[in-house]
Amino acid sequence: MWNIPHLEIATVCDNLERSFMGKILAIANQKGGVGKTTTAINLAAAIAKSGRKVLLVDADPQGNATSGSGVSKTINQKTLYHAMVSGESIRELVIPTEIELLWVLPSDKNLAGVEIEFAETTDRGRILKRILDPIRDFFHYIIIDCPPSLGILTVNGLTAADSLLVPIQCEYFALEGVTELFETLARLKRELNPGLAIEGLLLTMYDERTNLSAAVAKDLRDFYGPQVLETVIPRNVTLAEAPSFGKSVLSYDPRSRGALSYIELAKEILNHG
Ligand SMILES: Nc1ncnc2c1ncn2[C@@H]1O[C@H](COP(=O)(O)OP(=O)(O)OP(=O)(O)O)[C@@H](O)[C@H]1O
Ligand SMILES: [Mg+2]
Repeated sequence: MWNIPHLEIATVCDNLERSFMGKILAIANQKGGVGKTTTAINLAAAIAKSGRKVLLVDADPQGNATSGSGVSKTINQKTLYHAMVSGESIRELVIPTEIELLWVLPSDKNLAGVEIEFAETTDRGRILKRILDPIRDFFHYIIIDCPPSLGILTVNGLTAADSLLVPIQCEYFALEGVTELFETLARLKRELNPGLAIEGLLLTMYDERTNLSAAVAKDLRDFYGPQVLETVIPRNVTLAEAPSFGKSVLSYDPRSRGALSYIELAKEILNHG
């Protein structure tokens, strides 16, 4: 059983009116464990709680955004893999969450097969774009959680997206990974998605007790200027606990510093339009 089967899966899109302004946001950084999925789940939840329809697309075979949204990975649900490989209708795949305006396009480990199955396909970077374009106007925001690599799945996420949000953990090697990501981005813009904008660099796991966090934040702001978002996500244990209950932090502990920081982030991103 799905945890929250409050809508017929097949009719989700029918229940949504077209909003004609869907924006697709990819969350990517090839570095692992920097807060991509935590940001995807909680930003999606915060935007949905503000009254906008949101689709969270789990583009990572680890399936953390799927399980962290309260969707069980163990049952035989079709996933993004089926949409990418067999062209299954997305209407059959999108599922509701405990948050009223938030839906998830789930994934599991099978998605890793995409790297192999499309290895020889010339147009392999545009598969996700072709899947999401027809449904983008049913949602105000589509948020894509990318895996920690610069492989086919991340390329698909960045090609489908209007803008890129890069979570950066406040630690010593933070800047190095960002330089590499921006090099890939420049190539991707030339070849696949010239219109891709930078939504911003997001400082995550900021620990105000350490000089290191402050130093990394200063370095990033000195180097990237206004591309670094004003909102800073603190290191906060509720953010680490919430996924094990299949909840966003907004449901798990809405008064926590973690929840408040993601509400701030949602406001900042909504202000960008
Ligand atoms: N602000 C935070 N405060 C405390 N813990 C956090 C915070 N953000 C993320 N975490 C924890 O850090 C770990 C990595 O976070 P997360 O899974 O979001 O990173 P990721 O970039 O998606 O990882 P991966 O590259 O494996 O996909 C998780 O255990 C998560 O719960
Ligand atoms: Mg992740």
